[in-house]
This record gives sequence, structure tokens and C-alpha cells, in this order.
Amino acid sequence: MSYQQYVPYTPDESRYDGRMPYRRCGKSGLKLPSISLGLWHNFGDITPFGVQQGILRAAFDCGITHFDLANNYGPPYGEAERNFGEHMKRDWRPFRDELVISTKAGYDMWKGPYGNDGSRKYLIASIDQSLKRMNLEYVDIFYHHRPDDSTPIEETMGALYDIVKSGKALYAGISNYNPEQTKKAFSCLKDMGMHMLIHQPNYSMFNRSIERGLTDVCRKEGVGIMAFGPLAGGKLTGRYLNGIPADSRAGHDPRFLRPSDINEKLLDTVKKLNAIAEARGQSLAQLALVWALRLPEVTSVLIGASRAEQVRENAIALENTNLTDEELAEIDAVLAER
Ligand SMILES: NC(=O)c1ccc[n+]([C@@H]2O[C@H](COP(=O)([O-])OP(=O)(O)OC[C@H]3O[C@@H](n4cnc5c(N)ncnc54)[C@H](OP(=O)(O)O)[C@@H]3O)[C@@H](O)[C@H]2O)c1
Repeated sequence: MSYQQYVPYTPDESRYDGRMPYRRCGKSGLKLPSISLGLWHNFGDITPFGVQQGILRAAFDCGITHFDLANNYGPPYGEAERNFGEHMKRDWRPFRDELVISTKAGYDMWKGPYGNDGSRKYLIASIDQSLKRMNLEYVDIFYHHRPDDSTPIEETMGALYDIVKSGKALYAGISNYNPEQTKKAFSCLKDMGMHMLIHQPNYSMFNRSIERGLTDVCRKEGVGIMAFGPLAGGKLTGRYLNGIPADSRAGHDPRFLRPSDINEKLLDTVKKLNAIAEARGQSLAQLALVWALRLPEVTSVLIGASRAEQVRENAIALENTNLTDEELAEIDAVLAER
């Protein structure tokens, strides 16, 4: 990664003027911005450092105080954390206490039997590596990235507990756990005297599975929900309405969104949803965010962005979060036809 000459950053003085509502994360003292920014894509070695910097600065200027990472975000693995460490040194050091920074471990990260899954060995080594890469003394939230039924839940939760107790993270979370796994993880941590802060599941108009049980569990236990991928990786935006732009995810980084995913059937649905958004005076991206935020269990929607303008456009969604019963019914009807 080549670094450009440093242009000093002065955040927007009006970033806390109320445009960005902060929502309490479950039954905890922590408030999170309604929109959070994830560094899964566009923070590896294929994105210019200046573009990354612009996205982070635009987010903070809009009141987005939460940045989400994981050990293996890149490419290559670790690169998003390494780049964030450089951003940290340049821009964010003076604002550390205004930020909630999270990372995760749970997917494959390094070779051999200790760089994957849910063992204590993996999680504790991984948080140490992440902190070094990010130039941080602690993260605010450390997640187990995905369930691992082959490791006793007591071991995985015990590792999260110790990571928090050691001061390397302030709160513990889980991601991609189903309702049953969530209940077990929650009560295991509770038995040790620790509250599970947050769950990070996928949630968008195109994946409503959390509505079948997970939201109930999280509400009952007071666990906040960080809904990742509310724009379905860009499918729930106007991005692909006129073909596949070369600079889009499907166009230039199709690891998780292939050009073949952008098919006629998808576009038919997207056009109908886009018409509902236009009738409200919003873009489809804005409607998709407002729709996901309608659930009280959802603390925040976790977006990605490939440019600063997208972040700004998405933040404007919060100016109109009211969805009428008619609009909700129209959206349901379109989604039922998929
Ligand atoms: N826990 C997990 O297992 C897990 C898994 C996946 C993601 N995550 C987290 O969730 C975060 C978000 O995931 P995601 O990037 O897939 O989320 P997303 O918000 O569904 O998709 C982001 C993509 O949508 C497009 N976009 C955003 N705003 C737009 C706008 N206003 N107009 C047009 N297009 C727009 C951009 O695509 P282009 O690049 O094409 O411009 C952007 O890269 C990740 O960074 C990560 O932190 C967690």
C-alpha cells in the first residue's frame, strides 16, 4: 500500500447535531449510531489509501462513530486491520474515545490447526494480532465471528470472557449464531457474570431469517443487533440498474458478489423496490436502510461503502425513517414474488 502525503483532518463540528440517532445496544450502557461502517471490502490492498481515508472521514463527519473490522478482512487477510492501523495513527488517535471499534475471529485466518474456528488458542492469539495490526490498546467489541459446534461453548465464551477481563476488549459479541446457539452462548457468558452485548447477523430485505426467532431471543436477553449487509452487498441499491459498473463490487471484486448474481430476476425485484423508494423521495439504498432499522431489536445497520459519497447518501436516509403500513405492505408483496 502506498501512502499519499498527509492532509490533516478536522472533523465536522456539527457531527453530533442530532442527524445521527444513537440507539441503545440491548440492555447495556452503550449507544451505537443507527448506521455503522464496516471495513470488509474497500480497505484491503486493492483500494487506494486516500479513498479509504475519505470513506472513514465522511462517516465520522456524519456521526458514524462505529467502525467494524475482522482479523481476515482484506485482501489479503489482515490488510484491512493493517490499513486501519495506519488510519488510526494519522487521523483517529485524538478521537479514540469518540469511537467504537470492533473486530472478530472465527473464520480461517492463518495456516495450521490454530488459525480458525472457536478455540481459546485461536481467539486469544487473534485478538493480540489484531491489536498490533490496528495500533490499538483495546477494541470496544470483540466478536466470535461464527458458531463452532465442534468446540465446547464454554471454551469459546470463556475466551471472550477472559479477553474482556484482560482489558483487550470492552464488550463481547457473537456473529452468525442461530437462535439456539445464541441462547447457549448468552447463558454461558451470563453464568460467568458477563452480559453478551451484541449479535451481528445478516439482515436485509433479501435475507429476513432473523425475523424467525433470533430477534425474539435478542429482545428477551437484552442483546443488541448489528444488522450487517443491509444493502445486500450493493444489490439493494441503484448500482446495477444500468448494467455492472467496472468499479462496483460485482465488477471489480467479485469474491462474494458474482456478475452472474446480477440477473434479470434480481433486476426485476430491484426495479420494483426502486419505484417504492422514489415515491418516498429516497434512493433504494436509503429505503433499504430505513426498512432494516424499523425493527426495534436492530441497534444499527452495518453498511459498506466504496466511496465517501455513498456514506453521505446513506446517512441522509435518517431524515425520513417513517414507513407507512401501505409502503411496508408493498415491499412485502414485491419480496414475496421473488
Ligand atoms: N459478521 C459477518 O459474518 C459479516 C459478513 C459480511 C459483512 N459483515 C460486516 O458488514 C459490513 C457491510 O457489509 P457489506 O459491505 O456487504 O454491506 P452492504 O451495505 O450490504 O453493501 C455495501 C456495498 O453497497 C454499495 N453501496 C453502499 N451504499 C451505496 C449507495 N448509496 N448507492 C449505491 N451503492 C451503494 C457499495 O457497493 P460498490 O462497492 O459496488 O460501490 C458497497 O460496497 C462489512 O464491512 C462487515 O463489517 C459482517
